[in-house]
Amino acid sequence: MSKESAEKPWGGRFSEATDAFVEEFTASIDFDQRMYKQDIAGSKAHASMLTKVGILTEEEKQSIHEGLDAIQQDIEAGKLGWSVSLEDVHMNIEARLTDRIGITGKKLHTGRSRNDQVATDIRLWLREHIDFINEELLRLQKGLVDLAEREAATILPGFTHLQVAQPITFGHHMMAWYEMLVRDSERLMDCRKRVNRMPLGAAALAGTTYPIDREYTAELLGFDHPANNSLDAVSDRDFAIEFCATASIIMMHLSRFSEELVLWTSAQFNFINLPDRFCTGSSIMPQKKNPDVPELVRGKTGRVTGSLITLLMLMKSQPLAYNKDNQEDKEPLFDTVDTLLGSLRAYADMVPNITVNADAMREAAMQGFSTATDLADYLVGKNLPFRDAHEVVGKAVAYGVEKQKDLSEMNLTELQQFSSAIEKDVFNILSLEGSVSARNHLCGTAPKQVLLQVESARKKLLL
Ligand code: ARG
Repeated sequence: MSKESAEKPWGGRFSEATDAFVEEFTASIDFDQRMYKQDIAGSKAHASMLTKVGILTEEEKQSIHEGLDAIQQDIEAGKLGWSVSLEDVHMNIEARLTDRIGITGKKLHTGRSRNDQVATDIRLWLREHIDFINEELLRLQKGLVDLAEREAATILPGFTHLQVAQPITFGHHMMAWYEMLVRDSERLMDCRKRVNRMPLGAAALAGTTYPIDREYTAELLGFDHPANNSLDAVSDRDFAIEFCATASIIMMHLSRFSEELVLWTSAQFNFINLPDRFCTGSSIMPQKKNPDVPELVRGKTGRVTGSLITLLMLMKSQPLAYNKDNQEDKEPLFDTVDTLLGSLRAYADMVPNITVNADAMREAAMQGFSTATDLADYLVGKNLPFRDAHEVVGKAVAYGVEKQKDLSEMNLTELQQFSSAIEKDVFNILSLEGSVSARNHLCGTAPKQVLLQVESARKKLLL
């Protein structure tokens, strides 16, 4: 990064040079250089539009386009030295363009301001990254569907209050995560619509006196349409806030998933194994294999939500239109994208490689009287009102606790102490398989339903 003072494109009305510290303090080039591609694409489209409406000649446009392409190559080859005294990516690129092509370079900024330029660049950058994020989300969804199919009939205890509640299938559990991530994709795509509106043409705040053609620029840049109000277009960052809110919800989902993976890999649960390549050891305890990826993702959730709050506070109370405050939007936004992409990528790689310990899960489901509700439902089938059935089963459970026996381990005489309505057929429903298979309706845990959900997910994901 070069620190020597360059001539400022806005220097005309100033009588002394910027204070050296202020120059560094106000510069954004350290971080906004990430948007160089979008800045160049926006400038090329702007130059094409200026040519279409007769403000630039065809030769001038040609020269600007070639100059910008050459600058892009230099940046990508690591040959362009960014200058702090040129403040940001916009002025750096524009100054380089003028160095390269001369006076024509100075015409590029006709009818535009850095205010509509930066708002456009961020939207283009975010739009591209929303698409990368959604690809990873879809890859993770696919991994969950594959795992759900593989373990459609594998039984584990379902929990409420982290206490054994009822037996469920592992496939059903994975499809719960899938459903959450599908809504996340929907939210992301919905947010993308509001990202994809073009600020260019708003200029500094009020529009421009040139006969610009914003529909044309929008079309060149793939925007759905140009923004309707110049003041709004240059100033609001609600689209970035909305994205960070969506990202926070995705991370919240991943943190819940993470918590379960951490619990399930512990010696106490021992429900699943994560491949060694997704875990690390301890430098002191040789036996340790720690679930670092889920733990780290759980931890990073706070960071993403923190960025959401940062952006909300950044926008709070800002008067119209652009204020320099808005330069602070980029770091939290970039960090959110990086964190989310990394977390999704790690999960999409890891999830298809999860293996299950069916015996340990089964054994856990046998503890905690997980088929108690089934027994109550059975008694309702024998004409007992549900509340009475609940009472009968409560007594049977108390007996089981005392004798250390699951309901399915009691014999018929033992069970009949609690209700004479209980008959031999009760054993069909007291088994774990009987219990899960009986919940055979849309949204139920039966293996059949899991496979139906897998099938419809595959159709949706076009797998
Ligand atoms: N670097 C600035 C930002 O990120 C660009 C816009 C500056 N506009 C201005 N009028 N100073 O917001």
